[in-house]
Parts: sequence; structure tokens; C-alpha cells
Amino acid sequence: MSDFQLTRTLDEHTAETALRADVARGLTRTPKALPPKWFYDARGSELFEEITRLPEYYPTRAEREILLERAQEIASASGARTLVELGSGSSEKTRHLIEAMPALDTYIPVDVSESALAGAARTLLEEHPGLRVHALLADFTRALRLPASPGPRLVVFLGGTIGNLLPPERAVFLASVRAMLSPGDTLLIGTDLVKDEAVLVAAYDDAQGVTAEFNQNVLAVINRELGADFHTADFAHVAVWNREQEWIEMRLRARSDLLVKIRALDLVVPFTAGEEILTEVSAKFRQEGVRKELASAGLELVQWWTDAAGRFALSLSVAGGAER
Ligand code: AVJ
Repeated sequence: MSDFQLTRTLDEHTAETALRADVARGLTRTPKALPPKWFYDARGSELFEEITRLPEYYPTRAEREILLERAQEIASASGARTLVELGSGSSEKTRHLIEAMPALDTYIPVDVSESALAGAARTLLEEHPGLRVHALLADFTRALRLPASPGPRLVVFLGGTIGNLLPPERAVFLASVRAMLSPGDTLLIGTDLVKDEAVLVAAYDDAQGVTAEFNQNVLAVINRELGADFHTADFAHVAVWNREQEWIEMRLRARSDLLVKIRALDLVVPFTAGEEILTEVSAKFRQEGVRKELASAGLELVQWWTDAAGRFALSLSVAGGAER
């Protein structure tokens, strides 16, 4: 018998309905925008894995460095018997944490990709035969109902993915995570940090063009799922640092005047040459900002670790009494 269980709270129908709504809304507004979650079909997830290995893309390596260095501290500070990972993907970095947690009983990976969940569970169960894995196929930005599992719990949200949410979305997200925590539970969040603009821009506009292909992949997703006729080559990849907001913006810029048909929406979308679609923001943080956002959600920052070069941070927080 296997210690793997999967609970689906997402089905193809819900996903397609959400994609239709996001595309209909995002491509008829000014400026045009699409939510970044639609990058991640099988090809997009593959391209993202490739991005994490690029010389310019430091966040994955910086976060892994902190996790390797601090796994023991995180494990003992949390004392967790259940580990919940939001947006678990390949669970590759989490393995370091799991290895440092001998008392761990249950691992609950949460992701929108069933193939990623199944693959990660298989590898983990091979390495930790005693571990219970209860995967949740779910959108972590929605309120989650976690399966019953022993406390205390450690909830982790790695990769800097919180930076892909806009500030009001982050507030909603943190409040919903706060609501999942019982007394004694802890939260570990990975955040990329503000740094030199050239370093940031290079991380999102690599020399090999992998990030460009990743960005254009959202158009391929819309072609396949909604019968659109985007030519990805008609759109240039753009990465810019927004100094005021302290976030990177990825955009797709029309190289000429275009008309794009989206059959499933019965919609024709006009583009003027140079017009852009905002496809992702990736916010960069400072410790004080993280502390404030956590506090606003009723969470208290108790530990802050960075890699040796100070590029990326992991923060550990607990449910605070004050701001409920
Ligand atoms: C999903 C947060 C890890 O914003 O850095 C990588 C996604 N976008 N290159 C990020 C991404 C472009 C990434 N994370």
C-alpha cells in the first residue's frame, strides 16, 4: 500500500473557465494584462525549470543556499510534524528541509499541476518510505481546506512566488494563510530582494532567450486552449525594472499592428505596433516591507535569513496575537 493520496479541488472545467475570464478581461482592457499563472502548462513548467539553471537567474540558487545552510534551524524552530508547501512544483528545494525533519509525519504539497505533484511525491516516497504524502491539486491563492494531519504545521511558500502577486493580492493571500495556522504553527516565505537594476533585468532577460520563450508561451497556451491565432514571433519579450514599485515587469510587445482572433471568445483583439501586454510582475522586497506586510496579516516575523551575497531572503513567522 502506498502512502500517497491526492485530493483534487481543481478540474479542467474550472481552469478553462478561469482562463477564458482572465483572457477576455485582460485583453480588452487598457493597458492589456494577463495573470502569470497561465505560463505554467507542461511546456511552461519545463521552461521555468530551465530558467532556474540559467547563469543570470540567481534566485533559485540563492534560496537553495539558505535552505541548505538553515534547514536544521528551520526544522527545530518549527518542530513541525506536518509540512505544507504552497506552489510545490518539483519539490526539489523542499527535500533539504524534509531531510532535516526526522519528526515529520505528513507532507502536503499544493500545486495546480497534477504531473508535478505526482512526480514529486514519487521521488520523495522513494527517499522517505515512512512519510505520508497527501497532495492537494489546488490554486493556493484560494482559501484552502487542508487534510487532517498532526500539528504543529510548517507552511512554506518558496521561490519568491509571493512577488508575482500584486500588493492587494498579497494582503488577501497572507490573511488566508494566517487563517490556516493554529497556535504553534509557523510560516516560511522566500522573497527575492531589491538589488542592482542590471542584475535584476538580466535575471529576467537572459542571453539565451529562455525567459523570452517562457513569456511567449502564454500566447501558445491561449492558442491551444481558446483557439487563438497568436504568432509568438510577433511579440518581443520585454523586462523592465519599475523603480517606484520595486518590481520587475515582464511584457510582450507587438512588433507591428496586429489583429488576433480568439475563437472560443468570439473576440478579435487589435494591437498597435509597440503596444504591450503586462504578463508578470515579480516584486523585490526589503526586510521592513516584509515585516509590515506580515504584521498586517496578523503574522509576526521571528527570523530572517539571507544567502551570503544578500540577494534573497527566507523569513520565518508565527501567528501573532495583536492584529486579528
Ligand atoms: C515563479 C517567482 C519563481 O518571478 O522570478 C522567472 C517566475 N518569471 N522568470 C519569478 C519567473 C520569469 C519566478 N517565480
